[in-house]
Order: sequence, then structure tokens, then C-alpha cells
Amino acid sequence: MGQQEEIAKRRTFAIISHPDAGKTTLTEKFLLYGGAIQTAGAVKSNKIRKGATSDFMEIERQRGISVTTSVMTFEYGGVLMNLLDTPGHKDFAEDTYRTLTAVDSVVLVIDSTKGVEAQTERLMEVCRMRNTPVIVFINKLDLEGRDPFSLLDELEEKLSIKVRPLSWPIGVGATFQGVYDLFDHDLRLFEAGKTRRESASEHIRDLADPRLAQLLGEGPADELRSEVELVNGVYDPLDLAAYRHGHVAPVFFGSAFNNFGVREVLDTFVRIAPPPGPRETDHGMVQPQDPEFSGFVFKIHANLDPNHRDRVAFLRICSGRFRRNVFYHHVRQDKQLRFANPTSFLAAQKTLVEEAWPGDVIGLFDTGNFKIGDTLTERSNFNFRGIPSFSPELFRELVNMDPMRSKQLEKGIRQLTEEGVAQLFTQQPGNKKVVGCVGELQFDVIRYRLEHEYGASCSFQAIQAHKACWLTSDDEQALQAFIRVKSTQIVQDKDGNPVFMAPSAYMLDLERRNNPEITFHLTNEFKTLQA
Ligand code: G4P
Repeated sequence: MGQQEEIAKRRTFAIISHPDAGKTTLTEKFLLYGGAIQTAGAVKSNKIRKGATSDFMEIERQRGISVTTSVMTFEYGGVLMNLLDTPGHKDFAEDTYRTLTAVDSVVLVIDSTKGVEAQTERLMEVCRMRNTPVIVFINKLDLEGRDPFSLLDELEEKLSIKVRPLSWPIGVGATFQGVYDLFDHDLRLFEAGKTRRESASEHIRDLADPRLAQLLGEGPADELRSEVELVNGVYDPLDLAAYRHGHVAPVFFGSAFNNFGVREVLDTFVRIAPPPGPRETDHGMVQPQDPEFSGFVFKIHANLDPNHRDRVAFLRICSGRFRRNVFYHHVRQDKQLRFANPTSFLAAQKTLVEEAWPGDVIGLFDTGNFKIGDTLTERSNFNFRGIPSFSPELFRELVNMDPMRSKQLEKGIRQLTEEGVAQLFTQQPGNKKVVGCVGELQFDVIRYRLEHEYGASCSFQAIQAHKACWLTSDDEQALQAFIRVKSTQIVQDKDGNPVFMAPSAYMLDLERRNNPEITFHLTNEFKTLQA
């Protein structure tokens, strides 16, 4: 098979959701259909559960799971699916945002009883930043959920995306009877506790067909007719190009747990989801069809064995063909590296890869060469753009509790932040270190791992900070003057960019008004926009 065919058969995507909406359950059903697992319950939840074991044990357990499930590769309908896993806890959301830079599309799961939740909004914001195509699966239709029309309105309003239902539910909760497939005009009937049976699918092209009432009863049949009429009146037919540009999201209804409506999503997904597409670099676009190999690291996983410092860097291939044992160019370090044991994740097993193609994700054993965002090429000198850092929510000063081991602390915090566990900001003079996290749990992870993997002891001291703002301005003098005047609130990010630590929302607003020539960014993504 040539490069063109290899690219055309790949779909690289993630399933995302607010915790508990059903991401793990849907993932498992996809893997069952794809033959990658044989029994339900085989996919371990990567949620941090509170309970019998301590949080730290849970974190380690979760890290163990997430190495093996980072990429799940399986075949479905002649398509090679690369499903990238995302963490199940909101405190590790940043990891999810980075993973979203490595996919070509996403499936977003919504809990029908809850609608759009906080984390769903953040995730969609990240999808919108790079126009990632989204398919929505509204889950848990077997429970008394919200009215489907109001759910669709809420999706459009809160997620700023147009929607187009491709299936329509018949009743909800106790009266849930199934879905009508608006794409293929099939009626799919549901029986609680049973998986969807092929025999329960009826092809009904015209809803005036009297069989509809025989199957559903007069009342529900009438209701379905009027609802479908309304749907077709309100929503335009699906525009494939608009979906692929991230402007319209096709919506499906079902119940992942009962395996209902899942095959419909999967079948549509393989038909409409985009194959690996072009990627932006600081030297223009890279096309997957380009003959020269290139890729970028979007995730780094530390080895679970604290005695070994080696790590696994996850590389998304963007163009050309990757080959084992060939020297490649590490752009940031200007170094030639080759990999003897690159791994892929076909059928949930780690296997050695001899070659890999655009859209694939491979694991590279790393002894400390990689940082998140690094580019690997055959020989060119470009860098991929768009691995965003967002302003953390919580900030603490890192305090060394064991002066005899400050070197270990220094190394540990650097490596952990390179891995993306948290963001590190430094302030000069004095080399004060400020750690920024999304959730409390991340501070626990850092403290625990610094102690167990680096033998360093630290504590975190609260500081007055509300948001980290990356600064840019066309007026370099004004920018430097601001940095001088606000020096006690200026820190540097990992790449040396100036960042203003806004002490409160009020102060941020005030500084924005007082300094109109300076832009205060809540993500470092502006670098992409400036390209
Ligand atoms: P997440 O990965 O998005 O966090 O969600 P997960 O799949 O773990 O699902 C969260 C809970 O919702 C699970 O129950 C799961 O069984 C349930 N669930 C998923 N899909 C459906 C559905 O279609 N209908 C109903 N009624 N429930 C669904 P749990 O009790 O928290 O966990 P477990 O003990 O079942 O593993």
C-alpha cells in the first residue's frame, strides 16, 4: 500500500466528556465492535476514585492504566482507528487539551440528564481553537433525561456550534423505545437490558408507513412524525464540509451502557470523519502526503519504576513515513536521534513498529531528550505549532524543605513539568519557582513524585495570583516599561516568555484598561496566531 492509501484509511480521534457522562463506556463499546477487546469490563476506568485506597495509590494506578491505554488502535469497516485516551479527572484537564492537538476529530459525549457541563464547555473551546470536527453522542437515554430539543438548543448556545441531529429518540427514560436514524431512515428499537438486535431494525423510508404505528403504538408514532418534521424544518441537511471545518456537529442519541445507538455513531464516524490532515508549522503547512517524515510530541509518560528515569514520549506522525532505526532530526536540540524500540498499540498490545504513517501515534523511549511540543523531522528545521498552555487556575510557590537535596528538587520539578504534570514559572532575581495547576490533586502528585522518584522534599506556599497572562505588544517599549514597573508580578514561562501574574480579576481588568497597547493572553496559543 502506498502512502496515499495508508493516510486515507486512518482516523485519529479522541472521545471526550465531562467526567461521568460515559466516555469510558463508549470507548469500551467501540473497542468491542472493533474486536480489540472481547468482553465488557475490559477497559479500566482511568478515573481517580476516592475510597479504600489512598489518593496516591489511585494516582499510581491511574498512571499504570494510562500508559497502556494512551492509544487504542483497532480496525472497523476497513478503517484503521487510532483512539487517543484522555484522563478521567478534571484536575488533569491540561493533558486532555494537549491530546486534542494530536487528533483529527473528536466524539463528544453528553449526559442527557445533565446537558452541557462545565468541562464540556472548556473542551469545546479547545476544539474550536483549531476547528476540530465534532460528533456529539447524547448518552443515557434510558434515564429520565431532558427534552431532546432543549438539549440541542443548549448545545448550540453553550458550545457555540451549530448542530444537526442524525438520529432522533423515541421517548426518554421509561418510555424510551429506540431511535429513528435520520440518515438511513431506519427505525432501531430498544429493549432495556438487551443489546440492540439486528432484527429490531426496520427500514421505514416514509414515516406515514402504517408499520410505524404497529411497531411503536399510535401515540408515539404520531409524536415521532411531528418531531421529525420539526427537526427537518429547523435544521439544514448535514453539510459535510461544514462538519469537517468544525462548524456543524452531527448529533446522535443512545445509551452506551446498553450498547444502544453506538454502532450508528461508529458507522457514521467511519463514513464522515476526516483522515489525517495538514498541520501548521512555523514554516508553513505540512501535508500528510509530503514525502519527508515529520511528527511532534504531545505527551510524555514517566516510567512507573522510580529506579529508571526513562520515559515514553508519544509522537503524532504528521507526514511521510516513520521507520525504526533511522536517524531523525530533533529540531529544538539540533540533534540526530534514532529509535530502536518504537512501539505501537495495535489491539491494545504494545508491539514494535517497523514503520508508521501520518495519523499514527507511536511511543518512543526517551532518556530525557524530549519536551512536550518537540518536533522530529527527517532533516528540515521547522517546528509544529499549537501545543497550547492555558493559564492555570491555582498557583503556589515551590518551597524546598531539604536544602541538601536542592539539585534533586531542581531536576525533579523540571522533568515533571516537561512531562506536563504542571506549569512552572520562574521569577528573577532569586529564581523563585511558581507552580501552576488546574486542580488541587496535581500538587499532591508533584509532592508525592518528587519524594518517591527524586528523593526531594517540598511544600507549596499559597500566593496571591488569579491568572497567568502571556504578554504581547506591537509597542516593544511599552511592553518593557510594563514589565519593569510590575516586576514583582512578572514571571517567565518555560520558554522564557514574560507572564503577568494577575492578582485578581479586578486587577487584570484594570491593567487591561490602563495598558491598551499590551495584550494579556490567557493561553500561550497567541504564538500560533502570529504565524
Ligand atoms: P466517564 O468515563 O465519562 O467518566 O463515564 P463512565 O463511562 O465511567 O460512566 C459513568 C457512569 O455512567 C458509570 O456508572 C456507567 O456505568 C454509567 N453509564 C454509562 N453509560 C450509561 C447509559 O447509557 N445509561 C446509564 N443509565 N448509565 C450509563 P458508575 O455506576 O459510576 O460506574 P460503574 O460501576 O458502572 O463502572
